[in-house]
Amino acid sequence: MGNTIGVYGLGVMGASIAKNMVNKGERVAVYNYTPDLTEKFVEDFPNDRAAAFDDLEEFIRSLEVPRKIFLMVTAGPVVDSVIKSLIPLLDKGDIIMDGGNSDFHDSNRRYHELKGQDLHFISVGVSGGEEGALNGPALMPSGDKDAYQQVAPILEKIAAKVDGKPCCSYLGPEGSGHYVKMVHNGIEYADMQLITEAYQFLREKVGLSVEEISEVFTAWNETDLESYLIEITADILKKKDEETGKPMVDVILDKAGHKGTGKWTSQEALDTGTPSSILTEAVFARYLSAMKEERILAEKQLEGPKPSDEKLDKNDWINVVKEALFMGKICAYAQGFNQYRAAASEYGWSLDLGEIALIFRDGCIIRADFLNTISEAFKENPKLTNLLLAPYFLEKSNQYQSSLRKVVMKGMEFGLALPCLSSSLTYYDGYRSAQSGANMIQAQRDYFGAHTYERNDKEGTFHTEW
Ligand code: 6PG
Repeated sequence: MGNTIGVYGLGVMGASIAKNMVNKGERVAVYNYTPDLTEKFVEDFPNDRAAAFDDLEEFIRSLEVPRKIFLMVTAGPVVDSVIKSLIPLLDKGDIIMDGGNSDFHDSNRRYHELKGQDLHFISVGVSGGEEGALNGPALMPSGDKDAYQQVAPILEKIAAKVDGKPCCSYLGPEGSGHYVKMVHNGIEYADMQLITEAYQFLREKVGLSVEEISEVFTAWNETDLESYLIEITADILKKKDEETGKPMVDVILDKAGHKGTGKWTSQEALDTGTPSSILTEAVFARYLSAMKEERILAEKQLEGPKPSDEKLDKNDWINVVKEALFMGKICAYAQGFNQYRAAASEYGWSLDLGEIALIFRDGCIIRADFLNTISEAFKENPKLTNLLLAPYFLEKSNQYQSSLRKVVMKGMEFGLALPCLSSSLTYYDGYRSAQSGANMIQAQRDYFGAHTYERNDKEGTFHTEW
């Protein structure tokens, strides 16, 4: 009896996905380019349904036809070289899935290249980290629907479930699955930064201790803010450094890393003319954080408001910060979902925004209670132009916008940088302004470059001799 699926790449994520498949009843062949990880896998996880191979040909030969191979290797050129090594061993109709955080442009190319050789390529966005991969990730697959249907029983079995429904469904052609994962990460960056700003505000301006903020986040997690990122933030704030006894957050260097997906989301937003400003501010905030040495020097020279020990009243402000955070999240998710719409029209994909929100309800890093409501909003009105205009979010926005305004204004008054909260407010105010300032831009463009402008009161294009 052949193996039902092969997992290529046994790093943390690959090994966890393979174990998840075995645990759900699949017969899984595993292979890694270097045998050390294969040996470790066998040692850690002895199981009759898992077969480890050191030889690539034997690994492929062990699979049922059509062969299904799940790649979990480093995104980038490694994926191409692995695919190249597999092609001579495969037959027409075999299916390669890529579960890495690949650039969707590469996935589009790989899809077409493999199709030209009568092989199927399925992009699978995978979210949820090691824990998710092992027990139920959110999966975002795309490619040919027929090919998806052949792997669906396995993918849907290993995915997280909400009310019995898997957090995995076919999203569209080509590399659209990796596009969906990329924007998921753009939203993830913004969500993390918004939470960080709420934490900083509570600590520095409301004067709460780390323990108190942990309690605040735990309480918020019982409200409309309920989400994985809020939950882990509360947990992080509880953790003490064993060496110094200080809160763990206080001994971690304030330079944020990144692997590219957030940046790609912003690059795509620029290319498709989508104002994903909050998502982009989150990327820039990471870049600015990385300039630690420069920031240390600048703090000594550049003035701001005089530091004061005076703190805001916690009885008034904790809830204001909560509402500001919720409001920031609505704006960030609105931008992310608008980017899906822009991609659908740019690349000719029919992305179902309600379905994407359903996938995000569990397993993934941005899983949150309010994704149910986001999903309902897009299911009820697939043509919804902006999440802010869906009845539930419209009501919340009208209720919470003044809190966002208060926090941003206080932050500015105190000289506390709040890039994503302030960008959320700017986006919100810009979006709800029927009259923008762009008439002046048009006048300036026409003044120095005769670029012409349109008028409010008649049709046509005009130029003025300024
Ligand atoms: C997920 C995450 C994951 C991502 C890491 C690191 O959905 O499970 O998005 O895929 O790769 O969180 O991302 P950065 O290093 O760019 O922060």
